Amino acid sequence: MLKTLQTPGDTSWFTHDRFGLFLHWGLYSLPARHEWVKSREQIADGTYDDKYFKHFDPDLYDPELWAKAAADAGMKYFVITTKHHEGFCLWDSKLTDYKATNTPAGRDLLTPMVKAFRGRGLRTGFYHSLIDWHHPKYIIDGQNHPRRGELKFKDEVDGMLAQAGASGGSSPSAAKGDPNAGRNQQDYIDYLHGQVRELLTGFGDVDVLWFDFSWNSQKAREAGVDFTLGKGREAWGSEKLYKMIRELMPNIVLNDRLDLPLGDGWDVKTPEQVQPRQWVQVDGQPVVWEACQTLSGSWGYHRDEHSWRDTDELIRCLIDNVSKGGNLLLNVGPTGRGEFDERALSRLEGIGQWMRRHSRSIYGCTQAPAQFKVPTDCRLTYNPTTHRLYVHVFAYPYKHILLEGLAPQVEYAQFLHDASEVRLPDAWHNKQLGGGGDNLYIELPQMKPKGVAVPVVEIFLKR
Ligand code: GLC
Repeated sequence: MLKTLQTPGDTSWFTHDRFGLFLHWGLYSLPARHEWVKSREQIADGTYDDKYFKHFDPDLYDPELWAKAAADAGMKYFVITTKHHEGFCLWDSKLTDYKATNTPAGRDLLTPMVKAFRGRGLRTGFYHSLIDWHHPKYIIDGQNHPRRGELKFKDEVDGMLAQAGASGGSSPSAAKGDPNAGRNQQDYIDYLHGQVRELLTGFGDVDVLWFDFSWNSQKAREAGVDFTLGKGREAWGSEKLYKMIRELMPNIVLNDRLDLPLGDGWDVKTPEQVQPRQWVQVDGQPVVWEACQTLSGSWGYHRDEHSWRDTDELIRCLIDNVSKGGNLLLNVGPTGRGEFDERALSRLEGIGQWMRRHSRSIYGCTQAPAQFKVPTDCRLTYNPTTHRLYVHVFAYPYKHILLEGLAPQVEYAQFLHDASEVRLPDAWHNKQLGGGGDNLYIELPQMKPKGVAVPVVEIFLKR
């Protein structure tokens, strides 16, 4: 089995639990056309707030229902956007007025959420956006800030920054009409660190901290320019932030987007909206990883998106991740009234139906040792503690599945959903099929079991 590098965060529960719920909830659930709407449509602060801050009123919000939906789906942890790029905070931060308590919601929305999910036995994760399109001191960049259009031509700005030797945080150009005049990244850094401190001191044990995101930092560093070409560790004060996090919560599981190196910088690699081809590696080294994925394409609630993934494919996606040693963080974007919509609920329910009988092939499982060849149209997971191998049948075959090289090791096999025996053909049949030696066929019923999205054969291996 692959071994990953030991990092400071406690990833033992994380690689056991495998399946979490991502939640993107903020003002952008009102426009309901992508959480990046403020950037995409370059909406001014005033307009954004008049529409969405003033009308944010999730009157049907009941975190108990969210927690129940997640627990029933088999999810073991959740990660909530405490603040997304728009800058709006779900909790009663002492460092800003831009928070739920000052909207018609009129209350801290985070505390009851944490309580509800914990009550259902799920671990707590906080997503926190490094990017902030609302903070008045945050340096406006040419890439994604809603006010990027007010910047001079990019080359010109880059030149100015280079000339000013931009570094360390203060706004290098203060020309008249420059939207960055008076802005100072260091003030934003202080705010960011202060808010992270609030999050790690005001809500009990936090199990996951999930930052988002850095870009082009290497390029910017080489050019000696920090803030227009990219935002990375200098723009977030990442090193200092990292120290503070480890002081406050030494074992917290930290993701990889602070622009710091593996090990003393992050625990978990977080590929996004992709299905990795193999166990995720960094510099040739397998790492702890978690793919985050949406149900339909955007993270925030999107009313008109019609590209919803179907339940069976989502189940296969979870299995595929675990078969490569990874986790799945599956996203729901609750509505502006504070509910999971029907499309999300039906998927969570479907996943839950499968998980109720099959979680044994997910929890505590990982990629199977290389000696076990993956049968055609299948995925393997393996539990090193119970020494059981799980064959997930993605495309149901005509009666037989070949287990190459496994014959000497198989003690017993059964379907996982109903514990019905899966027979090992006798030597004569096995030979006729082309088995024999160490190769072994197992015999499935001719019809795919009804109502089972992905049938799983549980193989008890000899000790
Ligand atoms: C991206 C997006 C964002 C989303 C995140 C989840 O980086 O900026 O909207 O929150 O991915 O991974």
